[in-house]
Amino acid sequence: MKKKILTIVGARPQFIKVSPVSRYLKDYADEILIHTGQHYDFNMSDIFFEQLGIKKPDYNLEVGSGTHGYQTGEMLQGLEKIMLDEKPDGILVYGDTNSTLAGALAASKLNIPVFHVEAGLRSFNRKMPEEINRVMTDHLSTLLFAPTNTAVRHLSSEGIIKGVHLVGDVMYDAVVQNVKVAEQNSDIIEAHHLVPNQYVLATIHRAENTDDKKRLVEIWEGLNLIHMPVVLPLHPRTRKKIEDMGLKVTSEHLKLIDPVGYFDMLTLEANCLSVMTDSGGVQKEAYFLKKMCYTLRTETEWVETVELGWNRLVPADREIIKTVLNKTQSPDIKSYKEVYGDGKAAQKICDLILQA
Ligand code: UD1
Ligand code: UDP
Repeated sequence: MKKKILTIVGARPQFIKVSPVSRYLKDYADEILIHTGQHYDFNMSDIFFEQLGIKKPDYNLEVGSGTHGYQTGEMLQGLEKIMLDEKPDGILVYGDTNSTLAGALAASKLNIPVFHVEAGLRSFNRKMPEEINRVMTDHLSTLLFAPTNTAVRHLSSEGIIKGVHLVGDVMYDAVVQNVKVAEQNSDIIEAHHLVPNQYVLATIHRAENTDDKKRLVEIWEGLNLIHMPVVLPLHPRTRKKIEDMGLKVTSEHLKLIDPVGYFDMLTLEANCLSVMTDSGGVQKEAYFLKKMCYTLRTETEWVETVELGWNRLVPADREIIKTVLNKTQSPDIKSYKEVYGDGKAAQKICDLILQA
């Protein structure tokens, strides 16, 4: 009999991560897909299901936005009920959002094995909600799918050795599978009158930047000082903060746009000169597409990108942002190494789940 696997997703990056795994898993297991409803706008959720051919969720908890306690608590209640009804052989969670933690917590209390994709990532900054979610989820998991050697080492130093598998990064699988199709199906470059290799792609959404007035003002002013087009697909969280604070676009180069679908995003990443971001996924995609990334954080989980010279941590300082972005310096291509797997992480994950 086929195994019954309950997959839990809820936020934008999880729709991208689930796509290569579900594509493979569907032939070998009965996969029940649950959307917690953490993200719900069309261009934060539905568009990814459409573009990536992800099946319609079997359940949508429609939890929506709220405080961490509210959001996680609502998810826990909804997920527990489904787990009791469906009695899965295991649950599959991705990354480090509140949807990840709620899934892991609900399942582990019911003695259902937890399988964690993107295990072992650490920023060592406990002020980040994501760090709490990752540490907790890893400690509740039966199978831990680590994307990098660094992640395996982190788990080992916390005493987690059993069930750990180095498989590579499913986001790399997704880029390999989609980048060509994306460029063929996107007109985002023409629509915004961009010239390949002559613009910066920026994203900001991390709480440490949006919820810190001083940091957000410095980042905003810095983006307005860049001497070439800057495309900023704005996360709804950031749009709200910018509007509340009355921050205005003062540069003719800064183009604010709504969040874009995956195809437009990959096309923007593949054609830009450089990337400025605080996103985990976007840092990696910049690396996969061999673009220099400037990361607006004090640390990163994706340390390999920094060590190899393709990512640089940049303080929230308008002058520094202006200087580094106006003089993008990409490293020699010879420094590039395939440190995120071979594009077959999803297949390895599925095989390990089926053998468990
Ligand atoms: C969440 C994750 C973060 C991840 C990000 C991906 C947690 C704690 N954080 O952050 O790790 O990097 O998703 O994008 O799980 N909103 C909308 N429409 C939507 C979704 C959100 O307007 O479809 C607005 C709401 O005002 C909401 C705010 O964005 O309060 C924040 O959303 P939330 O899901 O709580 O956190 P993210 O910042 O998206
Ligand atoms: N992304 C997208 N459209 C956007 C911004 C991001 O498709 O407007 C994709 C991006 O390519 C990456 C993922 O969303 O695959 C990253 O998600 P996000 O930055 O929201 O979260 P994080 O990775 O920081 O958790």
